[in-house]
Amino acid sequence: MVRTSSAPAQRHFLMCPPTHFAVEYAINPWMDPSVPVDRDRALNQWRHLRDLYRALGHHVSEITPIEGLPDMVFAANGGLVVDGRVYGARFAGAERTPEGPAYLDWFRKAGYTGAREPKHVNEGEGDFVILEDLALAATGFRTEAAAHQEAEWFLDRPVVTLRLIDPRFYHLDTALFALPGNTVAYYPGAFSAGSLRVLRALFPDALLATEHDAAALGLNAVCTGTDVVMAAEATGLAERLRRRGHTVHPVYLDELRKAGGGAKCCTLELRPTPG
Ligand code: ARG
Repeated sequence: MVRTSSAPAQRHFLMCPPTHFAVEYAINPWMDPSVPVDRDRALNQWRHLRDLYRALGHHVSEITPIEGLPDMVFAANGGLVVDGRVYGARFAGAERTPEGPAYLDWFRKAGYTGAREPKHVNEGEGDFVILEDLALAATGFRTEAAAHQEAEWFLDRPVVTLRLIDPRFYHLDTALFALPGNTVAYYPGAFSAGSLRVLRALFPDALLATEHDAAALGLNAVCTGTDVVMAAEATGLAERLRRRGHTVHPVYLDELRKAGGGAKCCTLELRPTPG
């Protein structure tokens, strides 16, 4: 059963409409620029996700998308916000580099005056998962381990480093998500042997996902207590979450999956709003 958490049920999310969404380059194995993308379909799928969050009682803010930044829809990469402090993103590749300052600009205008421009490469909440007492952070494909320490000092919360080894699961949020009661769901095949030992020691109650559910980006999920918003195709994972007492809200985001992103990638949590 779901254990109660002290975290408030209502969340504040930042999202970016996929107005300029496209697959024009390949920076992960999901992306194939020769496969056509239906932008209207992507927009409809994204709107459905945004409206679902609102229907579940959450607050959604939107950042204005910028032409020429086709991956900007993946707001999770735009920064990391903990206790109202913003640790800005610094992207690994040139294709997404301008998104870092664009998101920082949004944060500053929204009143997050102390937003930090990062020294080290990090792709925001895509590679950091915030739990009640600590944070997990990944390295291996995008975020540098040095950024884990930078975030630890800046956010004043212990950060545990994990190593990703499967290029399909290039961000931590494609391979693991937080569940209430300081536990997680994850796909073991995404992690190095050493990181698996860490995960097993920290989370004896973790829910382990199959490769099939991970490959549907089922772990790119947003859990807000009892509710879990996740890829409709990850049916096995959904069933096991229901058995633990969760209410699963399936979403279809296959158009955005052509860029390697799912529900969580589209969602940056603002913990909490300043002021
Ligand atoms: N095409 C994007 C990239 O490779 C997808 C980002 C998905 N975001 C995420 N948080 N996993 O950077």
